[in-house]
Amino acid sequence: MNTNLPIVSFFRVLNNASRILKNPLPFHHENFEKHGDAFKVQLGFGKTVIFTRDAGFAKHMLQKQHRRYSKSELQTKDLAKYVGEGLLTSTGEKWLKQRRLIQPAFHKKKLESLINTIKEVIEEEFIKIPSNKEIDIFPVMSDLAFKVVAKSLFGYTDTQGDTISRLQHITEAAQKSLVQEIRQPYKRWWFYFSGKIKNTLKLTQEARDILNTIIEERRNSNKVYNDLLDMLLTSKYDDGSVMGNEQLIDEILILFVAGHETTSNALTFTAVLLALHPEIQEQVYQEVSETPDDLPPIEQIAKFRYTKQCIEEAMRLYPPAYFSDRVAIEDDNYQDLKLKKGTTILVSFFEIHRHKSFWKDPSTFDPDRFHPDIDKKEYSDWYFPFGSGPRMCIGNNFAMYEMILAISALVGKYKINTNLHKVDIKPLITLKPENAMLTFVER
Ligand code: HEM
Repeated sequence: MNTNLPIVSFFRVLNNASRILKNPLPFHHENFEKHGDAFKVQLGFGKTVIFTRDAGFAKHMLQKQHRRYSKSELQTKDLAKYVGEGLLTSTGEKWLKQRRLIQPAFHKKKLESLINTIKEVIEEEFIKIPSNKEIDIFPVMSDLAFKVVAKSLFGYTDTQGDTISRLQHITEAAQKSLVQEIRQPYKRWWFYFSGKIKNTLKLTQEARDILNTIIEERRNSNKVYNDLLDMLLTSKYDDGSVMGNEQLIDEILILFVAGHETTSNALTFTAVLLALHPEIQEQVYQEVSETPDDLPPIEQIAKFRYTKQCIEEAMRLYPPAYFSDRVAIEDDNYQDLKLKKGTTILVSFFEIHRHKSFWKDPSTFDPDRFHPDIDKKEYSDWYFPFGSGPRMCIGNNFAMYEMILAISALVGKYKINTNLHKVDIKPLITLKPENAMLTFVER
């Protein structure tokens, strides 16, 4: 890599502003094709960002030299304004302390106790899908993913359904506000003076109050629930103390934000891709119908190998977290590139996942790339659906269990058809599907 990176001028950015706002991915791609795997973009007022699709550089900053990098304000300060300082949004010592405390709750063995809950939510949600009628599947997947996290956290009962809907509404409203603020920074003064920001903050306070009541009720009950909240309430820091309510609320809000949209995007993309590839969908159906219904869910998951491959391949083509960023907190070098303290780097997982040097026919949907006989080492250096290094997704196993159970249940119950010819995308903070119009015919 050159010491002097090619520069994309502020003038060019301005000239392309309206299409970048609509969908920045083609602009990124053109520049990668023209300038190579890394270039610098001028953002005005002397600000620059390095864009990269160099998988080695991504590993370098996310994993090998992670101590020299921190997350940008977008992922910390901006998001924390609404959802507080939890795992996703904190940095340094505070993050490390929280990660150590929370990690055990997400170990595979612990997650096994949540699988029945996850399965129940999936069944409840998929019953609602109307047969033989074209629908947008995204809202279904979105409700499913929110309820799975909420129910795994504090196993709400049907009578608490309204509370959960309210929490979902508030989480989505906060994310929407943040997207607007990020995409239209020049309107921030308006969001502030019109009271929009204040209203969103009022909503998030309402969510905090709801969660505080749930936590207090739980602290005062003597029952064992074996859900995530129980695990979080009883986990102890090194000095033997436990998490206080405010920190616990921050962490719960973060789990809602981090685990909800990402999963619903991946589930929707997988369903659309299976509808677009009926022969692959048939292979998933074969696998599902050959697996006995009465096997314990954890054993079923192990049998749904091809289903898993399809989800992995969907996340290669459409990674819900399609980029990440880091800021150098001290001077660093990567190959010939000198990175000064304060440099911001944006890594495009979307581009790495479609890089011709790593993947054969990169735009083809081919789940066999992830066949169990293929050594993981062959792709793990350029496959980052859950990030890499110590800040890698804490919910990756949770999400995989949930998605395997959901896609196998969906394909087992319905044949999925579509009139679409391609996958439509809307890249916001996450890579969202658009117009996911599918028809479900009962098998
Ligand atoms: C398909 C679903 C998911 C995808 C694609 C995904 C992706 C990611 C990625 C790429 C990161 C790392 C970001 C970075 O390094 O900048 C991350 C972090 C995180 N994810 Fe996920 N995620 C998913 C599901 C979940 C679920 C279900 C949960 C929890 C229930 C969750 C909780 C988190 C948390 C708390 C972090 C922050 C970890 C830390 O900084 O220590 N995610 N996720």
